[in-house]
Amino acid sequence: MSGRTGFSVRFLPVLALAGTLTLLGGCGDNAGPPAAKAAPLDARLTEIYSRTCVGCHTTPDSGAPQSHNVAAWAPRMAQSDELLLAHMADGFAGMPPLGQCAECSAEDLIALMHFMAAPAPADPSTKDAE
Ligand code: HEC
Repeated sequence: MSGRTGFSVRFLPVLALAGTLTLLGGCGDNAGPPAAKAAPLDARLTEIYSRTCVGCHTTPDSGAPQSHNVAAWAPRMAQSDELLLAHMADGFAGMPPLGQCAECSAEDLIALMHFMAAPAPADPSTKDAE
């Protein structure tokens, strides 16, 4: 990662969150800085997100923790990435296996999860569809 333009502005809330999560979860196996995992979604993941996760994670009646509702995600994110990944892969209560994303890799799921658990991005193009 070399381009740092806009880094501080864009990632400040994420860094604050990541710091909290590190305290809560003790993520021991991060390859990079925690903020890297919560980066805004690229075009491919945005498309997957809108097609799958959004269906429940922006619909309160589904019982799913709502996207960018940091408080709702906090207790879940206090779990390890391994456990969260297992819940996403195998399904968990109302959460269907793979979040109904058959093509998602473990990395994709983790990225989507961190995206939803972080505050809403400033970039309107990645905002959730209402
Ligand atoms: C059919 C509805 C549905 C879809 C689609 C869905 N989820 Fe969920 N998800 C849920 C519900 C409901 C829960 C809460 C389960 C519970 O704790 O009762 C949940 C919980 C989760 C959790 C927290 C698990 C935990 O251990 O607390 C993660 C992470 C998650 N979803 C990620 C995703 C991702 C990523 C996608 C898209 C690839 C996705 N979900 C798509 C319904 C859905």
